[in-house]
Amino acid sequence: MDLSVTIAGVKFPTCFMNASGALCVTREELITLGRSRAGAIVTKSMTLEPRVGNPEPRYYGFTGGSINSMGLPNLGYRAYAEMIPELTRFGKPVIASIAGLCEDDFLTMARAINQARPDLIEVNLSCPNIPGKPQIAYDPVDSERLLKRVRPLITVPMGVKLPPYFDPAHHAVMAEVIRRCGVDYLNLINSVGNGLVVDPKHETPVIKPKGGFGGLGGSLIKPVALANVRAFWKLLEGRIPIIGTGGVVQGVDAFEHVLCGASAVQVGTALVEEGVAVFERLERELTAELAMRGKQSLEECRGKLKEL
Ligand code: FUM
Repeated sequence: MDLSVTIAGVKFPTCFMNASGALCVTREELITLGRSRAGAIVTKSMTLEPRVGNPEPRYYGFTGGSINSMGLPNLGYRAYAEMIPELTRFGKPVIASIAGLCEDDFLTMARAINQARPDLIEVNLSCPNIPGKPQIAYDPVDSERLLKRVRPLITVPMGVKLPPYFDPAHHAVMAEVIRRCGVDYLNLINSVGNGLVVDPKHETPVIKPKGGFGGLGGSLIKPVALANVRAFWKLLEGRIPIIGTGGVVQGVDAFEHVLCGASAVQVGTALVEEGVAVFERLERELTAELAMRGKQSLEECRGKLKEL
């Protein structure tokens, strides 16, 4: 089964790729993704300066999901700009994810990273884990101003990574922002921010930063991810491609994302837990899922959720 997809004119050899944050900080990790069955190499969201990130423990996996508050540990945009030419040689798209700590950071990074020519640039407006920094995409006015400043600096396809929204009014407002800002694709969703997982044995949170508050990922967030993919796909009438992120643990999860409107999917928690072998398994499972249903391609399933 051909699981290749095209997003904003860029061909991906398969629809599965890493979510930014999962095994994609160092050059070694990015090269490992390049050599794997992943359909793209997505960098960790980079900041202006290198960051060690939040204090540990800052990731915790449990049955059904994970919680993290990594705090954007990364090598800084200059290191990724240098690496991009090497990463583009693996025959799959490179998505460079940028996450400024202030608006001007996004502009500086957009200019420099654009010059390094990744295949796509993703503007991350949704990191929930920087103490004192709200998730930009929860403010539509700030988001629109930032995207309109960044857009002219980027000549490769520009995506935006959004957080989950929980009310149709918020989906509608952000869909209009996205429509007005020349966005080429959406990545939905970032982790469900500011959850709290408690270890009852020790009477503590399971992670240290922010008093234990962190972004939730994995199977438990799949319904939220699917709802956001579906809501934006309908509001934007399928005209802006969507990468679905959240709860992709088995092939059938990817099938559900595609039914809701996703063109491709990203894998976070399952990649951290299982390593890059996860991509081959997911391909196998999705191929079997499609074959069992007599489907010839992902295209014929995209957005075709049958509402009751
Ligand atoms: O904490 C982190 O590094 C997470 C980043 C993100 O969710 O965008």
